[in-house]
Amino acid sequence: MTQRTRVPLAVTTSGKPEDSRVARARAAARQWGLPFIPRRKKEPLGPLLESAADAFIVFERESVSLWDQEGSFSFNPGMAHLRRLRILSGQVGGDDALVRVAGLRAGDQFLDCTLGLGQDALVAALVVGPSGRVVGLEKSLALHAVVSEGLEAYDYGPDSARVEPVLADSHAYLRALPSGSFDVVFFDPMFEKPKKSQPAFEMLRRFAEHAPLTSETLEEARRVARRWVVVKGSKYSDDLKKLGLEAEPGSHYTSVIWGRVPAR
Ligand SMILES: C[S@@+](CC[C@H](N)C(=O)[O-])C[C@H]1O[C@@H](n2cnc3c(N)ncnc32)[C@H](O)[C@@H]1O
Repeated sequence: MTQRTRVPLAVTTSGKPEDSRVARARAAARQWGLPFIPRRKKEPLGPLLESAADAFIVFERESVSLWDQEGSFSFNPGMAHLRRLRILSGQVGGDDALVRVAGLRAGDQFLDCTLGLGQDALVAALVVGPSGRVVGLEKSLALHAVVSEGLEAYDYGPDSARVEPVLADSHAYLRALPSGSFDVVFFDPMFEKPKKSQPAFEMLRRFAEHAPLTSETLEEARRVARRWVVVKGSKYSDDLKKLGLEAEPGSHYTSVIWGRVPAR
C-alpha cells in the first residue's frame, strides 16, 4: 500500500457520487491546484481527515461544503436573503446600512475586497441590479472554493447582478487596476477582537485571512474608486480609528460600525 502525504486542503466527493459529480470535482481540483482524493462508496470522511488532508472541499449532491476536524460549512445566503427580501419589498433605503453608507444605486460597479461568505456582495448585487457589476475578492482558497460554487448555483432572479468571485489578495488586485475602475470599493476585514458568533462564522474564522487592512491598501482603494471606499468595523475594536476613519452615524443597537472615505 502506498503511503499518502497529508496535505492541508484537498477535494473529494460525497460517498456515493455519480460520474458527472466526480468529473466536476476533478476539474475544480485542477483549476484550484488542489489534489483530488477519490472517495470509495460509503467511505466516511473522518479517517480521510486523519490520514489524507487537514480539510476537504466536498462535492455533494446539492452543494459544495468545507470540512475539517471541527466541523463543516456550506454556502448559505442566510441573512443576505432576508436583506434582499427587504430591499425587494421596497423597504430600502429603509434601511440597509451597507446600501446607505455606500450610497449604492442601480448601475453601480461595486468591488468587494473581502468576499467572505458573500452576504454583503449579494445585497450589493441586488441594489446595483442587472446593469451594474459586483466583483468579490477572496484570498482564502478554501473559502473562495465553497462560496464561488454556492454563488454559481444561487438563484439571483431577474432584478440582480451576479456576483463575480475572484481568488485574489485585495492589495495586489487593486494595484493592478486602472484608477476609477469601480464606483464603490468595500472592505469588511476580520475584526481584531472576535466575539463568539454563528458556527458558519467560526469556520470562516479558521480559514480566513486575518491580516488587518493597511493604510497602503486603503489608499490604493481610493485611487480605484470613483465615489467611495467603505470599511465595515466593530465597536469593540479600534481598527477603523487606526486607519484614521470616523464611524458614520448609525444604529446604537448593533456592534457594527461603518467608515467611509471619498475617492481620490
Ligand atoms: C469578515 S469576512 C467578510 C464577510 C463578508 N462581508 C460577508 O458578507 O460574508 C472577511 C473575509 O475577507 C477575506 N480577506 C481578508 N483579507 C483579504 C485580502 N487581503 N484579500 C482578499 N480577501 C481577504 C477573509 O479571508 C475573509 O473571508
